[in-house]
Amino acid sequence: MSAPDLAQSAPDRPLGASARRPSAPDRPTTVPDGGSDVGGRPRHLLSVAALSRGRLEELLALTEVFVEVAGRDIPRVPALRGRTVALCFFEDSTRTRLSFELAAKRLSADVVSFAAASSSLNKGESLRDTVETIDAMGVDLMVVRHRASGVPAQVSRWVRAGVVNAGDGWHEHPTQALLDCFTVRRALAARGRVQPGLEGLRIGIVGDVEHSRVARSDVAAFATLGAEVVVVSPPTLRPSSVGRWPARFTSALDPELPELDALYVLRLQRERMGSHVLPGLREYRACYGVDARRAAMLPPHAVVLHPGPMNRGVEIDAEVADSPRSLVLEQVASGVPARMAVLSWLAGGEHHRLTPSPVDAEAESGLGAGGGRSGV
Ligand code: NCD
Repeated sequence: MSAPDLAQSAPDRPLGASARRPSAPDRPTTVPDGGSDVGGRPRHLLSVAALSRGRLEELLALTEVFVEVAGRDIPRVPALRGRTVALCFFEDSTRTRLSFELAAKRLSADVVSFAAASSSLNKGESLRDTVETIDAMGVDLMVVRHRASGVPAQVSRWVRAGVVNAGDGWHEHPTQALLDCFTVRRALAARGRVQPGLEGLRIGIVGDVEHSRVARSDVAAFATLGAEVVVVSPPTLRPSSVGRWPARFTSALDPELPELDALYVLRLQRERMGSHVLPGLREYRACYGVDARRAAMLPPHAVVLHPGPMNRGVEIDAEVADSPRSLVLEQVASGVPARMAVLSWLAGGEHHRLTPSPVDAEAESGLGAGGGRSGV
Protein backbone atom coordinates (compact mmCIF):
# COMPACT_ATOMS: atom_id res chain seq x y z
CA MET A 1 0.00 0.00 0.00
CA SER A 2 1.57 3.25 -0.97
CA ALA A 3 1.28 6.43 1.00
CA PRO A 4 2.14 9.17 -1.46
CA ASP A 5 0.12 11.56 0.67
CA LEU A 6 2.84 11.44 3.29
CA ALA A 7 5.61 12.66 1.08
CA GLN A 8 5.31 16.22 2.35
CA SER A 9 3.75 17.92 5.31
CA ALA A 10 2.10 21.27 5.70
CA PRO A 11 4.30 24.07 6.94
CA ASP A 12 5.70 23.11 10.30
CA ARG A 13 4.06 24.99 13.15
CA PRO A 14 2.44 24.24 16.47
CA LEU A 15 -1.21 23.33 16.30
CA GLY A 16 -3.45 26.21 17.11
CA ALA A 17 -1.12 28.92 15.90
CA SER A 18 -3.03 29.68 12.72
CA ALA A 19 -4.45 33.00 13.83
CA ARG A 20 -1.80 33.89 16.35
CA ARG A 21 1.36 33.31 14.33
CA PRO A 22 0.43 34.08 10.74
CA SER A 23 4.02 34.57 9.68
CA ALA A 24 5.38 31.21 10.86
CA PRO A 25 7.85 30.08 8.20
CA ASP A 26 6.91 27.34 5.79
CA ARG A 27 9.21 24.38 6.28
CA PRO A 28 8.17 21.39 4.19
CA THR A 29 9.49 18.21 5.77
CA THR A 30 9.42 14.53 5.03
CA VAL A 31 7.04 12.93 7.45
CA PRO A 32 7.10 9.27 8.45
CA ASP A 33 3.95 9.24 10.48
CA GLY A 34 1.29 11.53 9.12
CA GLY A 35 3.17 14.75 9.75
CA SER A 36 5.31 15.40 12.80
CA ASP A 37 6.54 18.52 14.44
CA VAL A 38 10.03 18.82 15.83
CA GLY A 39 9.12 17.01 19.03
CA GLY A 40 7.75 14.03 17.10
CA ARG A 41 4.10 14.83 17.79
CA PRO A 42 1.91 13.97 14.77
CA ARG A 43 0.21 16.94 13.15
CA HIS A 44 -2.09 15.15 10.72
CA LEU A 45 -3.82 11.81 10.49
CA LEU A 46 -3.90 11.03 6.79
CA SER A 47 -3.28 7.32 6.55
CA VAL A 48 -3.29 4.23 8.77
CA ALA A 49 -0.69 2.61 6.56
CA ALA A 50 1.84 5.09 7.97
CA LEU A 51 1.02 4.46 11.64
CA SER A 52 3.34 2.27 13.68
CA ARG A 53 1.95 -0.34 16.03
CA GLY A 54 2.98 1.87 18.95
CA ARG A 55 0.97 4.82 17.62
CA LEU A 56 -2.06 2.62 17.02
CA GLU A 57 -1.86 1.16 20.53
CA GLU A 58 -1.58 4.69 21.92
CA LEU A 59 -4.75 5.74 20.08
CA LEU A 60 -6.61 2.62 21.23
CA ALA A 61 -5.60 3.27 24.84
CA LEU A 62 -6.79 6.87 24.52
CA THR A 63 -10.08 5.65 23.02
CA GLU A 64 -10.57 3.52 26.15
CA VAL A 65 -10.08 6.67 28.27
CA PHE A 66 -12.79 8.46 26.30
CA VAL A 67 -15.16 5.51 26.61
CA GLU A 68 -14.89 6.08 30.35
CA VAL A 69 -15.54 9.80 29.82
CA ALA A 70 -18.66 8.90 27.80
CA GLY A 71 -20.02 7.08 30.84
CA ARG A 72 -19.86 10.17 33.05
CA ASP A 73 -22.92 12.22 33.96
CA ILE A 74 -21.48 15.02 31.86
CA PRO A 75 -19.44 13.38 29.13
CA ARG A 76 -17.35 16.43 28.36
CA VAL A 77 -13.72 17.36 29.03
CA PRO A 78 -11.86 20.63 28.37
CA ALA A 79 -9.08 19.06 26.27
CA LEU A 80 -9.78 21.32 23.26
CA ARG A 81 -11.22 24.34 25.03
CA GLY A 82 -10.30 27.45 23.04
CA ARG A 83 -9.53 25.40 19.93
CA THR A 84 -11.59 25.33 16.75
CA VAL A 85 -12.36 22.26 14.68
CA ALA A 86 -13.71 22.69 11.13
CA LEU A 87 -15.68 19.83 9.63
CA CYS A 88 -15.07 20.03 5.87
CA PHE A 89 -17.22 17.41 4.19
CA PHE A 90 -17.10 17.65 0.41
CA GLU A 91 -18.91 14.29 0.15
CA ASP A 92 -22.14 13.08 1.77
CA SER A 93 -21.87 11.55 5.19
CA THR A 94 -24.14 10.91 8.14
CA ARG A 95 -22.40 8.90 10.83
CA THR A 96 -18.82 10.08 10.27
CA ARG A 97 -19.74 13.78 10.25
CA LEU A 98 -22.02 13.55 13.30
CA SER A 99 -19.48 11.42 15.12
CA PHE A 100 -16.67 13.95 14.55
CA GLU A 101 -19.00 16.79 15.54
CA LEU A 102 -19.94 15.10 18.80
CA ALA A 103 -16.32 14.18 19.47
CA ALA A 104 -15.14 17.78 19.01
CA LYS A 105 -17.96 19.16 21.17
CA ARG A 106 -17.27 16.65 23.94
CA LEU A 107 -13.69 17.91 23.94
CA SER A 108 -15.07 21.46 24.39
CA ALA A 109 -13.83 22.69 21.00
CA ASP A 110 -15.64 25.32 18.96
CA VAL A 111 -16.99 23.52 15.91
CA VAL A 112 -17.70 25.01 12.50
CA SER A 113 -19.18 22.97 9.74
CA PHE A 114 -18.77 23.30 6.01
CA ALA A 115 -21.28 21.64 3.69
CA ALA A 116 -20.22 21.53 0.05
CA ALA A 117 -23.77 21.69 -1.28
CA SER A 118 -24.45 25.13 0.23
CA SER A 119 -20.97 26.62 -0.16
CA SER A 120 -19.17 29.01 -2.50
CA LEU A 121 -17.90 25.97 -4.41
CA ASN A 122 -21.20 26.43 -6.25
CA LYS A 123 -20.01 29.91 -7.30
CA GLY A 124 -16.90 28.43 -8.84
CA GLU A 125 -14.53 28.77 -5.91
CA SER A 126 -11.64 26.32 -6.05
CA LEU A 127 -10.96 23.69 -3.39
CA ARG A 128 -7.72 25.47 -2.47
CA ASP A 129 -9.38 28.88 -2.03
CA THR A 130 -12.14 27.25 0.02
CA VAL A 131 -9.83 25.50 2.49
CA GLU A 132 -7.44 28.44 2.73
CA THR A 133 -10.42 30.67 3.57
CA ILE A 134 -11.52 28.33 6.35
CA ASP A 135 -7.92 28.08 7.58
CA ALA A 136 -7.51 31.87 7.66
CA MET A 137 -10.32 32.10 10.23
CA GLY A 138 -7.99 30.54 12.78
CA VAL A 139 -9.00 26.92 12.65
CA ASP A 140 -6.82 24.43 14.56
CA LEU A 141 -7.97 21.13 13.10
CA MET A 142 -9.69 20.40 9.78
CA VAL A 143 -11.58 17.16 9.33
CA VAL A 144 -11.71 16.53 5.59
CA ARG A 145 -13.81 14.11 3.56
CA HIS A 146 -13.67 14.13 -0.23
CA ARG A 147 -14.62 11.75 -3.00
CA ALA A 148 -11.17 12.06 -4.55
CA SER A 149 -8.23 10.13 -3.12
CA GLY A 150 -5.41 12.31 -1.78
CA VAL A 151 -7.41 15.48 -1.09
CA PRO A 152 -6.81 15.55 2.71
CA ALA A 153 -3.07 15.14 2.09
CA GLN A 154 -3.14 17.94 -0.46
CA VAL A 155 -5.11 20.14 1.93
CA SER A 156 -2.49 19.48 4.64
CA ARG A 157 0.09 21.10 2.36
CA TRP A 158 -2.05 24.21 1.85
CA VAL A 159 -3.24 24.97 5.37
CA ARG A 160 -1.72 25.66 8.75
CA ALA A 161 -4.29 23.58 10.64
CA GLY A 162 -3.78 19.91 11.44
CA VAL A 163 -5.73 17.71 9.03
CA VAL A 164 -7.69 14.53 9.75
CA ASN A 165 -8.65 12.34 6.83
CA ALA A 166 -12.34 11.44 7.27
CA GLY A 167 -12.39 9.31 4.12
CA ASP A 168 -10.89 10.11 0.72
CA GLY A 169 -12.03 8.35 -2.43
CA TRP A 170 -10.87 4.73 -2.51
CA HIS A 171 -7.78 5.59 -0.50
CA GLU A 172 -8.19 5.54 3.28
CA HIS A 173 -10.54 6.07 6.22
CA PRO A 174 -8.21 6.04 9.24
CA THR A 175 -10.70 6.79 12.02
CA GLN A 176 -12.99 4.02 10.78
CA ALA A 177 -10.07 1.60 11.12
CA LEU A 178 -9.33 2.83 14.62
CA LEU A 179 -12.90 2.40 15.81
CA ASP A 180 -13.10 -1.01 14.12
CA CYS A 181 -9.92 -2.24 15.84
CA PHE A 182 -11.22 -0.95 19.14
CA THR A 183 -14.65 -2.57 18.69
CA VAL A 184 -13.42 -5.95 17.51
CA ARG A 185 -10.76 -6.19 20.21
CA ARG A 186 -13.20 -5.32 22.94
CA ALA A 187 -15.91 -7.69 21.71
CA LEU A 188 -13.55 -10.62 21.27
CA ALA A 189 -11.93 -10.01 24.65
CA ALA A 190 -15.42 -10.13 26.17
CA ARG A 191 -15.90 -13.47 24.40
CA GLY A 192 -12.77 -14.90 26.01
CA ARG A 193 -10.41 -14.25 23.10
CA VAL A 194 -7.91 -12.22 25.10
CA GLN A 195 -4.86 -10.92 23.29
CA PRO A 196 -2.51 -7.96 23.60
CA GLY A 197 -3.27 -6.54 20.15
CA LEU A 198 -5.17 -8.61 17.65
CA GLU A 199 -2.59 -11.42 17.75
CA GLY A 200 -3.76 -14.88 16.89
CA LEU A 201 -7.04 -13.65 15.44
CA ARG A 202 -8.13 -14.27 11.89
CA ILE A 203 -10.26 -11.51 10.40
CA GLY A 204 -12.05 -11.86 7.06
CA ILE A 205 -13.00 -8.81 5.01
CA VAL A 206 -15.56 -9.54 2.32
CA GLY A 207 -16.95 -7.54 -0.55
CA ASP A 208 -16.18 -4.64 -2.79
CA VAL A 209 -12.52 -4.27 -1.88
CA GLU A 210 -11.54 -2.40 -5.01
CA HIS A 211 -13.70 0.64 -4.18
CA SER A 212 -13.26 0.53 -0.42
CA ARG A 213 -11.19 3.01 1.57
CA VAL A 214 -12.41 1.15 4.66
CA ALA A 215 -10.79 -2.07 3.42
CA ARG A 216 -7.48 -0.32 2.77
CA SER A 217 -7.35 1.26 6.23
CA ASP A 218 -8.73 -1.75 8.09
CA VAL A 219 -6.40 -4.29 6.49
CA ALA A 220 -3.45 -2.08 7.39
CA ALA A 221 -4.61 -1.58 10.98
CA PHE A 222 -5.62 -5.21 11.63
CA ALA A 223 -2.33 -6.49 10.22
CA THR A 224 -0.26 -3.93 12.13
CA LEU A 225 -1.92 -5.11 15.35
CA GLY A 226 -0.99 -8.70 14.60
CA ALA A 227 -4.15 -10.21 13.07
CA GLU A 228 -4.08 -12.55 10.11
CA VAL A 229 -6.25 -10.93 7.44
CA VAL A 230 -8.10 -12.74 4.66
CA VAL A 231 -9.68 -10.62 1.95
CA VAL A 232 -12.55 -12.17 0.02
CA SER A 233 -13.94 -10.56 -3.13
CA PRO A 234 -15.05 -11.34 -6.65
CA PRO A 235 -11.99 -11.21 -8.92
CA THR A 236 -13.45 -8.13 -10.66
CA LEU A 237 -13.59 -6.20 -7.37
CA ARG A 238 -10.04 -7.07 -6.34
CA PRO A 239 -7.52 -4.20 -6.53
CA SER A 240 -4.56 -4.61 -8.85
CA SER A 241 -2.19 -3.76 -5.97
CA VAL A 242 -2.92 -6.97 -3.99
CA GLY A 243 0.78 -7.87 -3.81
CA ARG A 244 1.38 -4.90 -1.51
CA TRP A 245 -1.48 -5.67 0.91
CA PRO A 246 -0.55 -7.46 4.16
CA ALA A 247 -3.32 -9.99 3.56
CA ARG A 248 -4.21 -13.21 1.76
CA PHE A 249 -6.72 -12.83 -1.09
CA THR A 250 -9.34 -15.35 -2.18
CA SER A 251 -12.61 -15.31 -4.09
CA ALA A 252 -14.33 -18.15 -2.18
CA LEU A 253 -16.08 -17.07 1.03
CA ASP A 254 -17.61 -20.29 2.37
CA PRO A 255 -14.37 -22.25 3.02
CA GLU A 256 -13.01 -19.36 5.10
CA LEU A 257 -16.01 -18.90 7.40
CA PRO A 258 -15.36 -21.72 9.96
CA GLU A 259 -11.87 -20.33 10.67
CA LEU A 260 -12.74 -16.67 11.26
CA ASP A 261 -12.90 -14.79 14.56
CA ALA A 262 -14.44 -11.75 12.86
CA LEU A 263 -16.10 -11.16 9.51
CA TYR A 264 -16.07 -7.59 8.22
CA VAL A 265 -18.69 -7.00 5.53
CA LEU A 266 -18.10 -4.12 3.12
CA ARG A 267 -20.81 -2.09 1.48
CA LEU A 268 -21.28 -2.76 -2.21
CA GLN A 269 -20.41 0.70 -3.55
CA ARG A 270 -22.81 0.85 -6.43
CA GLU A 271 -22.28 4.61 -6.85
CA ARG A 272 -18.60 4.06 -7.57
CA MET A 273 -18.63 1.20 -10.01
CA GLY A 274 -19.14 0.87 -13.73
CA SER A 275 -21.88 -1.58 -14.68
CA HIS A 276 -19.42 -4.10 -16.13
CA VAL A 277 -17.74 -5.28 -12.93
CA LEU A 278 -20.61 -7.38 -11.60
CA PRO A 279 -22.92 -9.78 -13.41
CA GLY A 280 -25.75 -8.61 -11.10
CA LEU A 281 -26.78 -8.04 -7.53
CA ARG A 282 -28.46 -11.47 -7.32
CA GLU A 283 -25.23 -13.24 -8.29
CA TYR A 284 -23.24 -11.09 -5.89
CA ARG A 285 -25.60 -11.90 -3.06
CA ALA A 286 -25.52 -15.62 -3.89
CA CYS A 287 -21.70 -15.78 -3.71
CA TYR A 288 -20.84 -13.12 -1.12
CA GLY A 289 -24.00 -12.01 0.68
CA VAL A 290 -23.77 -12.72 4.41
CA ASP A 291 -27.06 -14.42 5.24
CA ALA A 292 -28.15 -16.62 8.15
CA ARG A 293 -26.77 -19.77 6.48
CA ARG A 294 -23.32 -18.24 6.14
CA ALA A 295 -23.38 -16.71 9.62
CA ALA A 296 -24.11 -20.20 11.01
CA MET A 297 -20.87 -21.43 9.42
CA LEU A 298 -18.84 -19.05 11.62
CA PRO A 299 -17.45 -20.30 14.97
CA PRO A 300 -19.82 -19.56 17.88
CA HIS A 301 -17.67 -16.74 19.26
CA ALA A 302 -17.18 -14.97 15.90
CA VAL A 303 -18.47 -11.44 15.38
CA VAL A 304 -19.74 -9.59 12.29
CA LEU A 305 -18.96 -5.95 11.47
CA HIS A 306 -20.11 -3.48 8.81
CA PRO A 307 -19.08 0.20 8.51
CA GLY A 308 -22.54 1.34 7.38
CA PRO A 309 -24.53 2.41 5.55
CA MET A 310 -25.76 -1.16 4.96
CA ASN A 311 -27.47 -2.45 1.86
CA ARG A 312 -29.69 -4.93 3.68
CA GLY A 313 -30.51 -7.88 1.49
CA VAL A 314 -27.45 -7.31 -0.71
CA GLU A 315 -24.13 -7.70 1.15
CA ILE A 316 -25.74 -8.47 4.53
CA ASP A 317 -29.14 -9.80 5.57
CA ALA A 318 -31.20 -8.23 8.34
CA GLU A 319 -31.09 -11.54 10.27
CA VAL A 320 -27.32 -11.18 10.55
CA ALA A 321 -27.13 -7.38 10.92
CA ASP A 322 -29.56 -7.50 13.85
CA SER A 323 -28.22 -10.68 15.46
CA PRO A 324 -26.18 -10.90 18.71
CA ARG A 325 -23.05 -11.49 16.60
CA SER A 326 -23.41 -8.10 14.95
CA LEU A 327 -21.24 -5.24 16.22
CA VAL A 328 -22.74 -2.64 13.89
CA LEU A 329 -24.12 -0.40 16.65
CA GLU A 330 -21.06 -0.94 18.85
CA GLN A 331 -18.99 0.36 15.94
CA VAL A 332 -21.08 3.51 15.77
CA ALA A 333 -20.83 3.95 19.55
CA SER A 334 -17.03 3.54 19.49
CA GLY A 335 -16.77 6.15 16.76
CA VAL A 336 -17.18 9.10 19.11
CA PRO A 337 -14.48 8.12 21.67
CA ALA A 338 -12.16 6.99 18.88
CA ARG A 339 -12.48 10.39 17.18
CA MET A 340 -12.08 12.17 20.53
CA ALA A 341 -8.84 10.22 20.87
CA VAL A 342 -7.62 11.33 17.44
CA LEU A 343 -8.54 15.00 17.88
CA SER A 344 -7.02 15.28 21.36
CA TRP A 345 -3.94 13.28 20.29
CA LEU A 346 -3.29 15.65 17.41
CA ALA A 347 -3.82 18.65 19.69
CA GLY A 348 -1.36 17.01 22.09
CA GLY A 349 0.91 18.31 24.84
CA GLU A 350 -0.34 20.67 27.48
CA HIS A 351 -3.79 20.75 25.92
CA HIS A 352 -4.32 17.16 26.80
CA ARG A 353 -6.72 17.96 29.60
CA LEU A 354 -9.10 15.19 30.45
CA THR A 355 -10.54 16.19 33.78
CA PRO A 356 -13.85 18.07 33.82
CA SER A 357 -13.37 21.83 33.69
CA PRO A 358 -14.44 23.97 36.66
CA VAL A 359 -17.39 25.17 34.55
CA ASP A 360 -18.53 21.64 33.79
CA ALA A 361 -17.96 20.52 37.35
CA GLU A 362 -19.95 23.51 38.62
CA ALA A 363 -22.74 22.77 36.17
CA GLU A 364 -22.67 19.20 37.31
CA SER A 365 -23.00 20.02 41.00
CA GLY A 366 -25.39 22.90 40.31
CA LEU A 367 -27.69 20.58 38.41
CA GLY A 368 -27.50 18.17 41.30
CA ALA A 369 -26.56 15.37 38.92
CA GLY A 370 -24.88 13.66 41.84
CA GLY A 371 -22.07 11.14 41.78
CA GLY A 372 -20.27 12.76 38.87
CA ARG A 373 -16.68 11.63 38.80
CA SER A 374 -13.75 13.85 38.08
CA GLY A 375 -10.38 12.97 36.67
CA VAL A 376 -9.54 10.01 34.49
C1 NCD B 1 -17.91 4.24 4.82
C2 NCD B 1 -17.42 5.38 3.97
O1 NCD B 1 -18.14 6.33 3.72
O2 NCD B 1 -16.30 5.28 3.56
N1 NCD B 1 -18.91 4.56 5.72
C3 NCD B 1 -18.61 5.25 6.82
O3 NCD B 1 -17.75 6.11 6.86
N2 NCD B 1 -19.30 4.90 7.92
C4 NCD B 1 -18.16 3.02 4.10
C5 NCD B 1 -19.04 3.09 2.89
O4 NCD B 1 -19.59 4.10 2.52
O5 NCD B 1 -19.17 2.03 2.29
